[in-house]
Amino acid sequence: MKRDCLQLTDLSAGELRQVLELAAELKAEVKSGVFREALAHRAFACIFHKPSLRTRLSFEVGLGQLGGRTLFITDREIQLGQRESIHDVAQVLSRYVAGILIRTFEHAGVEELARHADVPVVNMLTDLSHPCQVLADIFTVQERLGRREDLVVSYFGDGNNVVNSWLNLSRRMPMELRIATAANCLPDAGILEAARREGLSKIVVTQDPRAAAEGAHVLYTDVWASMGEKERAEEKMRALKEFHRTGELLSLAREDCVVLHCLPAERGREITDEVMDGPRSAVFDEAENRLHAQKALLLKLLEWSD
Ligand code: CP
Ligand code: NVA
Repeated sequence: MKRDCLQLTDLSAGELRQVLELAAELKAEVKSGVFREALAHRAFACIFHKPSLRTRLSFEVGLGQLGGRTLFITDREIQLGQRESIHDVAQVLSRYVAGILIRTFEHAGVEELARHADVPVVNMLTDLSHPCQVLADIFTVQERLGRREDLVVSYFGDGNNVVNSWLNLSRRMPMELRIATAANCLPDAGILEAARREGLSKIVVTQDPRAAAEGAHVLYTDVWASMGEKERAEEKMRALKEFHRTGELLSLAREDCVVLHCLPAERGREITDEVMDGPRSAVFDEAENRLHAQKALLLKLLEWSD
């Protein structure tokens, strides 16, 4: 059976470990000028219904480094679910490509695409989750701190697709995940409940950003209004203004804490320049690591598919 990655929970803890180990190997190889031709003659459909810098470029460059090619498809071409059904698009694409990568709004559409495709489907971001991002995030944490388990990860701001993916990761990797947000900006209730029920990690949701920062290993944030919900921007700005990451919060965390932001950032809003450009920031390593983590993910999904 083919394997998909629509959420991080599609991978077991052991599989996640394998992906992260391969990502480290691939990164080291690229740094010494070695490129595997593992995807020679294979093409991947990359469907984008939202803008992207990191995701598009890291997949295009990364799959190219493995000898594969990507096909950039916007809704102008296929009009998924309108010009023809998701089922038919999935079936046709499966005859041409080795994998389908998609960034869109509704998560349910991606689940439907994956149900009907015969090749692996990878979620490049939906309103619900952003698994490729959090895979690169935990890889970056491992690089910076030398370990990835039993850490205090504190997230400040909107309870969006990125924090939902951290909650999913917390079901596979033990951590203390603290989410500092306003009462009307909570993460997805089902995902939060599932993470709590799993019981592997300690999940704390708080409206006190200072308490969340205390002794943290990782300080994370993201934009307050995600793509597709910019009409809620004003409301989110009002709700979240106490949850921006400043030097003061940084001083409460551990001295060796890692500052992450998936980017794009709205500098001066959810994060100050001082924090983003400071010595604890790993935001550009994090952006680079999308490349290595996603190459590893795709190679492993193809290996596990039969
Ligand atoms: N972090 C991230 O996914 O960036 P893009 O939206 O630019 O792809
Ligand atoms: N939460 C953000 C992530 C961007 C990479 C968004 O969905 O717009």
